Amino acid sequence: MIFDTRPKMKREDLFDREKELEDLHNNLDVPIMVITGVRRIGKSSILNVFLNEISYPSIVLDLRALKNNYGLKEFYEILSQGISSKLEKLIDIIKNITAIRIAGNEIEIKWRGKDALNLTSFFDHLNRKRIIIAFDEAQKLRGPRSNEILNAIAHSYDYNKNVSFIFTGSEVGLLYDFLKMNDASSLLYGRYYYNLTVERFPKDVSKGFLISGFKEYNMSVTEEDLEEAISFFDGIPGWLTFYGNEVVRGLKRFDVIKEMAVNLAKNELENLIKTRGSKRYATVLHGIALGENSWSRIKRYAEEKEKTTISSSILSNILGTLEELSIIKNYEFIDPVYREAAKRLDL
Ligand SMILES: Nc1ncnc2c1ncn2[C@@H]1O[C@H](COP(=O)(O)OP(=O)(O)OP(=O)(O)O)[C@@H](O)[C@H]1O
Ligand SMILES: [Mg+2]
Repeated sequence: MIFDTRPKMKREDLFDREKELEDLHNNLDVPIMVITGVRRIGKSSILNVFLNEISYPSIVLDLRALKNNYGLKEFYEILSQGISSKLEKLIDIIKNITAIRIAGNEIEIKWRGKDALNLTSFFDHLNRKRIIIAFDEAQKLRGPRSNEILNAIAHSYDYNKNVSFIFTGSEVGLLYDFLKMNDASSLLYGRYYYNLTVERFPKDVSKGFLISGFKEYNMSVTEEDLEEAISFFDGIPGWLTFYGNEVVRGLKRFDVIKEMAVNLAKNELENLIKTRGSKRYATVLHGIALGENSWSRIKRYAEEKEKTTISSSILSNILGTLEELSIIKNYEFIDPVYREAAKRLDL
């Protein structure tokens, strides 16, 4: 079902994206692929559909929930979930690893002490057969453990021809900051990788998406609502899915659903501001949402609002971070739903 709000697993549920899937299939032999794109654009869906279409097994690590200062235990918890969810296909490959215990339809990983799992040896072991390991939202791997993980990946790149990696990330700047493939001092420097950037739907594809989704429920909406949804959600499939799902569940009014989407985005921005520990993020986001579209205009705006002079380096830091998080680009919001949400932030 097109309006199912979980990431899609099968091509029949995935609208369009034939080109993206073909690109991935054509690059199957590249040891590292990187899938980038803004939040809700469909990276996880494209990744899952692709991995379900290839003939050999894969492990997907859903890293979204990983905390900033995660340890090996938390990382292995996610690895064990990734393996457990495809245990049938992986059981032959992992059953001889001493650090991994199969307990019913789940696995347990020993993370410390004698016989603990060593990531490098784990990849070496997997190399007996062709396999793909996918890190979904890989920028979350940044942190005290990142070198250890990158080290294992770089080793595997060099020695394990059967193991390849896919990284996805919605915070594109942070993802590349983690991978550091263009940084001469880094472990993965100079390795070739294939990058797929997932773009938003053009208007006609958005329209086709909504019409096809409603058709699955023998429903339709007015041309006016259709146009409003297409224009407001700006070709981002996750928002279009959110809209379609609310309509088929009985909520008819566009303006009500729009409010819900904006509130969701507002929550996400508030979390970001809280994590960064500076209210100034709110001021800057607010200014950009109102159309302040240059460095000096934003500075003036924030100084007026806060009634204080603002250090240039601090402002540059904030703007740099917002770019790395793929919230803004060239002093504009990438996702119009976030722009609307930013206008409502408490200052
Ligand atoms: N091409 C598509 N056809 C049908 N549904 C889609 C498509 N692309 C995305 N979706 C839906 O949009 C939502 C977001 O998709 P998905 O989770 O794959 O995106 P994402 O880029 O991984 O998002 P995030 O950055 O939040 O992880 C999901 O509800 C998914 O089912
Ligand atoms: Mg995702």
